[in-house]
Amino acid sequence: MTPFHYQNDELFAEDLPLSRIADQFGTPCYVYSRAALEDNLRAYEQALGDIPHLTCFAVKANSNLAVLNILARAGAGFDIVSGGELARVLRAGGQASKVIFSGLGKTEAEIEQALKAGILCFNVESEPELERINAVAGRLSMRAPISLRVNPDVDAGTHPYISTGLKENKFGIDIAQALNVYKHAATLPNIHVTGVDCHIGSQLTSIAPYLDAIDRVLMLIDQLSEHGIELQHFDIGGGLGVVYQDEQPPAPHELIDAVKARLADRKLELIVEPGRSIAANAGILLTRVEFLKHTDHKHFAIVDGAMNDLLRPALYGAWQAIEPVKLKLAGQHTGHAYDIVGPVCESGDFLGKDRWLEIAPGDLLAVRSAGAYGFVMSSNYNTRNRAAEVMVDGNQATVVRKRETIDYQLSLESTLSD
Ligand code: LLP
Repeated sequence: MTPFHYQNDELFAEDLPLSRIADQFGTPCYVYSRAALEDNLRAYEQALGDIPHLTCFAVKANSNLAVLNILARAGAGFDIVSGGELARVLRAGGQASKVIFSGLGKTEAEIEQALKAGILCFNVESEPELERINAVAGRLSMRAPISLRVNPDVDAGTHPYISTGLKENKFGIDIAQALNVYKHAATLPNIHVTGVDCHIGSQLTSIAPYLDAIDRVLMLIDQLSEHGIELQHFDIGGGLGVVYQDEQPPAPHELIDAVKARLADRKLELIVEPGRSIAANAGILLTRVEFLKHTDHKHFAIVDGAMNDLLRPALYGAWQAIEPVKLKLAGQHTGHAYDIVGPVCESGDFLGKDRWLEIAPGDLLAVRSAGAYGFVMSSNYNTRNRAAEVMVDGNQATVVRKRETIDYQLSLESTLSD
């Protein structure tokens, strides 16, 4: 389905006009489509279909409780990177037994929290972390299920900030060292070795780097087997790209079919950790034009959304489509190539540059593909309240996170008493 589509020259979220959502809940606000989230999860579930598998949504992409709840109800597991994300998953009705814990700085308190909750697996990123997990599990008289996140040293061909599988990246254990670390892990009394994991980067638009990484990990799996270490699962990470502009990323089934062919008759459960490909195109950021400013050099549309709401353009130079919510009759407003900028006091505060738009002050704009790494990366910079989040289900819209208030922001702070 196309969750955000034009009907009679007006942009809709499922069956609701976005203008109605803006009137009701104000702007800027994030709007998500329940059906799109479910469809995107289903694409993985159907592709994985007949083999033992688990689709663990990468919570960092969108951790709103309603999003997690919808995915949990549709059968998803979750990939978390903090104790906070674990708390969200459990609050949203997710099952701990379907949770994997990634990330390279797990604290003792987080490890204890995850062990007590009974998560499926820790993806271990270094030897000191392995020792720490063993020690915490020992104190609790438990055995911690672990996989090693190996760094296969492949170039994912994506933005350097979101590439993670190269030797120079901080992530994972060098695949050349992995055999030794596994052998050591197998001797630790409070560790239960259950799998292997790799995640090579995000917004990947080709299958080749995955297969490259998988081939390397399969060689490791065979070596481990020769040493009597049998793994139960292979977690290939997330990272499948989406269409922001003119990318042509593979569909989940293209990736999964190719991976299945590589795994052939090995008895390994396949785990995937998609974030962006489930959430990005299930959401938009809705913002209103405050002013138009024309200079000798530029045309600016100053909107009420800013880099604190959606950081990707400022941080990565990311391109996201920006569309008017109501299409105007031709010639109603003079068109210009606008820089769409927010009120934050930084020249880097833009949502898009050089976008041809026929708009007037008060018009609504939708920034597309904002369901992943949108709200979760927002901040209170310039003491701006973080935006509301709204979930659309058919013709129903529900606020799933209230717009913050200044009182709420200030309530966390205090002055010195003397
Ligand atoms: N698993 C691990 C271990 C990860 O580090 C990530 C993302 C994922 C899964 C999910 O990857 P996805 O399927 O979403 O590509 N803020 C950046 C993206 C950072 C991705 C970090 N790790 C952006 O806005 O593009």
